Amino acid sequence: MKEKETYKVDIESFDINGYGVCHIDSKIVFVIGAVEGECVIVEIINVHKKYAFAKLVRILKESPKRLEPQCPYYKYCGGCDMMHISYDEECKIKEFRVTQTLRGLDYKLEPLIKADDIYGYRNKVMVPFCKDIDDDILYGFYQKESHEIVSIDNCLISDDLTNKIINYISRYLNIFHVSIYDELSHTGLFKEVMVRHTKLNEYMVVFVTTADYDFSDLVNHLTSEFDAIKSIFLNINGKKTNVVLSNEYKLLYGKETILEDILGLKFNVSPSSFLQVNNRQCEKLYSKAIDLANLDKTMNVIDAYCGMGSITLNIAKRVNKVYGIEIVESAIKNANTNKELNGITNAEFILGPCEEKIKELVNLTNIDVIFFDPPRKGCDIEFLNTVISMEIPKIVYISCNIATCARDIKILEENGYKLETVVPTDLFPRTLHVESIALITRKN
Ligand SMILES: C[S@@+](CC[C@H](N)C(=O)[O-])C[C@H]1O[C@@H](n2cnc3c(N)ncnc32)[C@H](O)[C@@H]1O
Repeated sequence: MKEKETYKVDIESFDINGYGVCHIDSKIVFVIGAVEGECVIVEIINVHKKYAFAKLVRILKESPKRLEPQCPYYKYCGGCDMMHISYDEECKIKEFRVTQTLRGLDYKLEPLIKADDIYGYRNKVMVPFCKDIDDDILYGFYQKESHEIVSIDNCLISDDLTNKIINYISRYLNIFHVSIYDELSHTGLFKEVMVRHTKLNEYMVVFVTTADYDFSDLVNHLTSEFDAIKSIFLNINGKKTNVVLSNEYKLLYGKETILEDILGLKFNVSPSSFLQVNNRQCEKLYSKAIDLANLDKTMNVIDAYCGMGSITLNIAKRVNKVYGIEIVESAIKNANTNKELNGITNAEFILGPCEEKIKELVNLTNIDVIFFDPPRKGCDIEFLNTVISMEIPKIVYISCNIATCARDIKILEENGYKLETVVPTDLFPRTLHVESIALITRKN
């Protein structure tokens, strides 16, 4: 088998990335864009010892699970991966991604918690701006595995108003010839726009620039056009970096925070706060995680990696005492404000890395449950070792990366714990990402 060769193949199944799987000359071949059950012509794009990758050239027999993507940019844009298949098929792939990654472990798998809305669900969008060869300003998302921007004017997984706001800003920048940042030469002003909103219909807009600038005219236009905008910030990031937002925020209009409701509690959300991007699914995720913990009013709980306290405060309503640990100072500030906002008195927030701060709680021998919700890289080994030494009876692990979650669960299983239940949850419809909740208990 060589690159550029073409073959006619039957797609036998799918892999954890949603690629079609077939065999050619006893080699396993992953076909990007092909769907299980199809007969297709493929072109080999690279060959390894035991496997190869191929691209789809032509479909000879189409699967009934294939859909015409609703998004005209889908083929090029790196944002979504699953628009060419039915939502049921997408959920099957996501479940498979979870079970394959956890293979070798013995546990009860609950069905994936599906989303009711598979479009228009994102509550936060960041779009980079650039100029095309005609000097026109455009915006969009990055192509898959590239830093090229695919120009768009509507994103189907964002909501309508967010699309309208970004469109409006783009038109304004074009009309008034505002200087746009050029990544290669590291010159120019305007880099990106972030728009986030809450289910209480409050919108926040953040302009990201390389330097300070007078945006009062744009702010006046935007706020008279869109009533729902309650807050506008400027974020100044003059560094040549892939990290979009710096710590330098300047409030240009309205409130410092917008208000969110999660399971009946109110939360102030600042521009740097971590918030799950899908409000409705986030409520299902938290409810399921809390149910799995089987909490009661006698229990003491730790919520590690707690962000602005959105799970912590929902736990507080059901237990004796809860401690939230989080490394970002502004998130802890938000968490304390949110605690007051909701009249909660039995939650305590601790600022610092979990791997260090958990040690301050070691002498509390009466911790009944610990929740983990770490970033994609998973938990720090020092943190896991401390949790193990504390012999906490129950762990509820919320994960956005099943690979690092599986790694951490294996460490816990080697040290007296047992994985009991896993619940995949779809927070990111039409993309490959899947969130999971794992219930892990201490043996004896
Ligand atoms: C996936 S978010 C979860 C936040 C929160 N549980 C929620 O649902 O909104 C992960 C959080 O872990 C925090 N974090 C990352 N590394 C950390 C560390 N070593 N110690 C404590 N917090 C950390 C991040 O700042 C972020 O707020």
